[in-house]
Amino acid sequence: MILKTQNITLRPWEENDARCLYHFAKNPNVGPIAGWPPHESIEDSLNIIKTVFSKKETYAIVKDDVAIGCVGLLFHPDTNHWWGEGACELGYWIAEEYWGNSYAAEASKVLIDHAFNDLNVNVIYATYRVENTQSKRVLEKLGFEYYTDMTNENYLHEFFKEIAMKLEK
Ligand SMILES: CC(C)(COP(=O)(O)OP(=O)(O)OC[C@H]1O[C@@H](n2cnc3c(N)ncnc32)[C@H](O)[C@@H]1OP(=O)(O)O)[C@@H](O)C(=O)NCCC(=O)NCCS
Repeated sequence: MILKTQNITLRPWEENDARCLYHFAKNPNVGPIAGWPPHESIEDSLNIIKTVFSKKETYAIVKDDVAIGCVGLLFHPDTNHWWGEGACELGYWIAEEYWGNSYAAEASKVLIDHAFNDLNVNVIYATYRVENTQSKRVLEKLGFEYYTDMTNENYLHEFFKEIAMKLEK
């Protein structure tokens, strides 16, 4: 499926996005705070496209034919937590070169509308690390409200504090 907004397009990831994905996702300011390691090679990025990014409702955020980020809805059992029936989990990242344009919220909004209107979703959860005020702002712009504090474990097996936010249909 392809979803369009005023400034960006959401489309499935393609294998030939791998070079571009590596360019943006090797940046240590992007992945680790969102829970994943910086990409180490184009092959690494291609593998992510074929596995993680090939899940349903995961999209490349495209601006001027460049894949500048990712937005997706995760459904059980792919979620980081069990949120209950009729629920899913929102995740996103934007390449650092494109921060500050509200693209994360713009991309998330069209996907949230799709979830509530077409996918039988009643409630959407999202989590961010306590220090990730940039992500907190995205969720506030989308109308998410505080749900609970949580503790999670990252890919280095370090525990960290996160906040879960919730948006009801
Ligand atoms: C969180 C993220 C997706 C926000 O994307 P975005 O499209 O830049 O979001 P916005 O433009 O709405 O900016 C959100 C806030 O980030 C801050 N911000 C904007 N540009 C910034 C920049 N260049 N540097 C640092 N902070 C910046 C501002 O506080 C802004 O809030 P404001 O609009 O009220 O001023 C992006 O920063 C990112 O990918 N971060 C790394 C991965 C990540 O955290 N993913 C989410 C995991 S929960």
